[in-house]
Amino acid sequence: MVPEFSYRNGVLHAEGVSVEALAEQYGTPLYVYSRAHLIAQYRALHTALERINPQIYFAIKSNSNLAVIQTMAAQGAGADVVSGGELFRARKAGVAADKIVFAGVGKTEAEIDYALREGIHFFTVESEGELDRISSRAQALGCTGRIAIRVNPDVDPHTHKYTSTGKAENKFGVDLARAEKAYEQALHLPGLEVAGLHMHLGSPIMSPTPYAEALEKVQPLCAQLKREVSTFQYLDIGGGLGIAYRPDEAPLDPRDFAAAVLPTLHALDLHVGLEPGRFFTGNAGLLVTRVEYIKENPFKQFVIVDAAMNDLLRPPLYEAYHEIVAVVETPDRLQGDVVGPVCESGDFLAANRELPAVSPGGLLAVMSAGAYGFVMASNYNTRGRAAEIMVNGERAELVRARETWDDCVRGERIPDWTVTH
Ligand SMILES: Cc1ncc(COP(=O)(O)O)c(C=O)c1O
Repeated sequence: MVPEFSYRNGVLHAEGVSVEALAEQYGTPLYVYSRAHLIAQYRALHTALERINPQIYFAIKSNSNLAVIQTMAAQGAGADVVSGGELFRARKAGVAADKIVFAGVGKTEAEIDYALREGIHFFTVESEGELDRISSRAQALGCTGRIAIRVNPDVDPHTHKYTSTGKAENKFGVDLARAEKAYEQALHLPGLEVAGLHMHLGSPIMSPTPYAEALEKVQPLCAQLKREVSTFQYLDIGGGLGIAYRPDEAPLDPRDFAAAVLPTLHALDLHVGLEPGRFFTGNAGLLVTRVEYIKENPFKQFVIVDAAMNDLLRPPLYEAYHEIVAVVETPDRLQGDVVGPVCESGDFLAANRELPAVSPGGLLAVMSAGAYGFVMASNYNTRGRAAEIMVNGERAELVRARETWDDCVRGERIPDWTVTH
């Protein structure tokens, strides 16, 4: 458990605030974020790379609550966005347009127009077709689209197949062999400025080695572009920095990461950007849930809680492990699964685990839930999405209200012919 979450007199606290008290006041399921952890992680990474003064673009897909984005922006972070909606959020949270980079394989014309009008720092371009599209939209709007081509370096990040993005078979980026041609194309297209090169290998990456390998692969192309293209000044090395999800897991230490990447980055002498998300947000958040029932069948015990896969999708989607602890400490243990009320066998938060034995009415905390938690939540089974709280020392503030059933049906319309033939 990270230091910002700890037990005080046997009760789990987020910084100085009792998680039990938060659950009483705001109900469950409830996401709780620690502002101090977000800041500590930002500083640890920035300090490790201080010699090259990197621009950190916080990957807001990991947690796009406005209060979280603004906390990161106040530290100096920009934003890595992957949709018009995320660009809207970043701007709403006060991120300067020239600190925003826009990734994603399927940018629509409307999204490109919006980003061009806002004047973002650059698009990370995923295909030759996208170069054409940005060029024609920039001409139509009478402006310039700055671009960095996302190069897929074909490096194995040794992570889950669904979160691996930098291997040759993945849909992301342009492979190295084609990248040179793509840059040629970009240099000849009107309305474009070739600003840099981008890569992202996947996540979570627990070792610095894949980053070093990938940098070695893209270094010759970067050096050549820097020599030949005066506007080529930026190298964005992506995100994916791993965190500890298990108590015995060693997170990627930013100092080891820095030691692995700095030699190549120094040699290249480009402005360096990086775009982690979970490294900041993952262990900044937990999901509090109340135990509803304990049920047994001939095979195992089920702890049935009020949070479900619609609140936290990572366990069924990625077979991800989240540590589960009691909010009020107990020495008692049971063996079983933690499951939600959603009507799917895949609706589990933990499988075949030794767990704290908490009776119905008691509280559990699902740890490391700050990244890809609430942002992946849905209304499946017409469950309103959970409330979100941010803690700052002794203070706690509701940063997103719990959705009501009315919220769940807002926007739906019943045509007047549904009951006629
Ligand atoms: C292009 C890009 N950058 C950054 C990230 C952030 O990854 P992480 O939150 O693991 O750092 C992702 C994650 O999907 C991504 O696709």
